[in-house]
Amino acid sequence: MASKRVYIETFGCQMNELDSELVSGQLRALGYQFTPDPKSAEVVLYNTCSVREHAEQKVWSRLGEMAIRKKEDPSLVVGVLGCLAERDGESLIRRMPVVDVLVGPAELDKLPALLDNAVRTNVSLAENPPEDANNPGENRVVSARQVALQGTASRRSATLAAAEDSLEMLDLSRAVSPIDAQASTSRSAYVRITRGCNKFCTYCVVPFTRGAEIHRPPEHIIEECRRLADAGVIEITLLGQTVNHYRFEHGAAVTVNGVKQPQKGRSFAGGHRRDPFAGESTTTFADLLAEIHEQVPGIQRLRFVTSYPRDFGDDVLEVIRDHPRICRYLHVPAQSGSDRILKMMNRGYTVGEYLDFVDRARSFLHQPEKGRPLGLSGDFIVGFPTETDEDFRATYELLQRVRYKNSFIFKYSPRPGTTAFDRLVDDVPEAVKRRRNGELLALQNVVAEAVAREHIGATFDVFIEGPSRKEAKKRKTSRSGGLVSLTIGGQDAAEPYCAPALEEPAEVDSMQYCGRTDTDLIVFFDLPQGSPDPSGTFARVRIESVRALSLYGRLA
Ligand code: 5AD
Ligand code: SF4
Repeated sequence: MASKRVYIETFGCQMNELDSELVSGQLRALGYQFTPDPKSAEVVLYNTCSVREHAEQKVWSRLGEMAIRKKEDPSLVVGVLGCLAERDGESLIRRMPVVDVLVGPAELDKLPALLDNAVRTNVSLAENPPEDANNPGENRVVSARQVALQGTASRRSATLAAAEDSLEMLDLSRAVSPIDAQASTSRSAYVRITRGCNKFCTYCVVPFTRGAEIHRPPEHIIEECRRLADAGVIEITLLGQTVNHYRFEHGAAVTVNGVKQPQKGRSFAGGHRRDPFAGESTTTFADLLAEIHEQVPGIQRLRFVTSYPRDFGDDVLEVIRDHPRICRYLHVPAQSGSDRILKMMNRGYTVGEYLDFVDRARSFLHQPEKGRPLGLSGDFIVGFPTETDEDFRATYELLQRVRYKNSFIFKYSPRPGTTAFDRLVDDVPEAVKRRRNGELLALQNVVAEAVAREHIGATFDVFIEGPSRKEAKKRKTSRSGGLVSLTIGGQDAAEPYCAPALEEPAEVDSMQYCGRTDTDLIVFFDLPQGSPDPSGTFARVRIESVRALSLYGRLA
């Protein structure tokens, strides 16, 4: 049964990429094989995102295609994983009866068992077709054939502590089984440190789909980093929706709201300095970074995303400054430059407080004279309900002032289940959203180029990801992992984002490679034809020019 061919497609954020990787590892260990071609797959899985409507629509259209295919081949198994599964639950199966398995983000460790069951059932259904074989599943309520598992929503109200084992299982799967063969070919990996989110920004569906914030025990995280390093990984990106909010109280398997269960009470409200409550029995985010740095020296680059502006203590900034292998790259979404809009978004800070954080971060971490600049990136939402030209102007000015190296800019997308969806009218016309989006993106491009220019003449360690797209095309390599994805920050590439254009032609007698500085800037450089593949290693590159937001340099 388990030798079935599986195709998995991931939508949305890095958290989903990691979930897909872990789920794939579990399935591979059970004998499932993976194929990059959905047409040849017997099991098709979509790991979904519901942060914006756009990402969701792609899933609906994929499911439509699968419904047509399933009429031909009723043994096909279709699974919807992740945030959409959690949000829509069984109503998704009613709308799309082609779906056999539905698993929310908190229940992914149970996927192998559910899938096995679905595969067996569908195979026997295909062999002994029921009377309505022409319309498999049509107009049916969720049947025994179809399995839906949600969990996160209930986690919010009742059994927070009970959810911990299940949540930890998926991440632990990497620690208890050999590192997935596919993952081990990569020198870069994600490690989750926090799940869920408690911020409840009014536009955001994540607290509903991923549930309450839960912090993983530091020893599990460090052990996972160590195992990845032993398997050859040299760059680790720690993941959390509000990653710098990490805080673990020892004595409990998992903490919720930074408080060990079942004890209730205080949570670290952030603040701008040190955590006043952190005692001996607490591992703060600063402690965690320092411990990973110390205990896993094989990790040459330690990064983390996504940070929440209000929770940045000076202790974290100091640890980054004092530990050379922690990257000076902070992705800290501001979302808006207008205090009125920030309040309506329930972001919990003012523009002044955000700028205070930026100034502190710069004073600790921006040391270009030592070859260690700081790289900042941001997220913005334009066209939030009631946003005026004046509000937008304030956002424009904030982006200009902060000088992000790149920003992800999104048009507000009303999400069912969120406070903004329930209470606010989506009253900014689409044309205005589009115009503001374009204006902000154009400004970001100008700012990004100016930031990039400051690097000319300096020399950086570049972590080589592989041949540039242009080079890969030139060589028409089919090597898996050989083509470098240039999506910065791993978010929805269909959204406008500040991506480098690949205009610079590679010399005929050389090969063009691409990598990143520790501030996450993309660098292109040439190596002589026939050089051994340097992917996954470091090169010292002297920056000579900037083109279309990318840096171009020469081996130093
Ligand atoms: N509409 C538009 N953008 C959104 N984001 C989150 N929810 C929405 C929404 N409803 C953006 C925020 C967040 C990023 C991951 O997605 O900018 O930081
Ligand atoms: Fe969503 Fe806000 Fe949590 Fe980020 S901090 S995941 S935007 S609720």
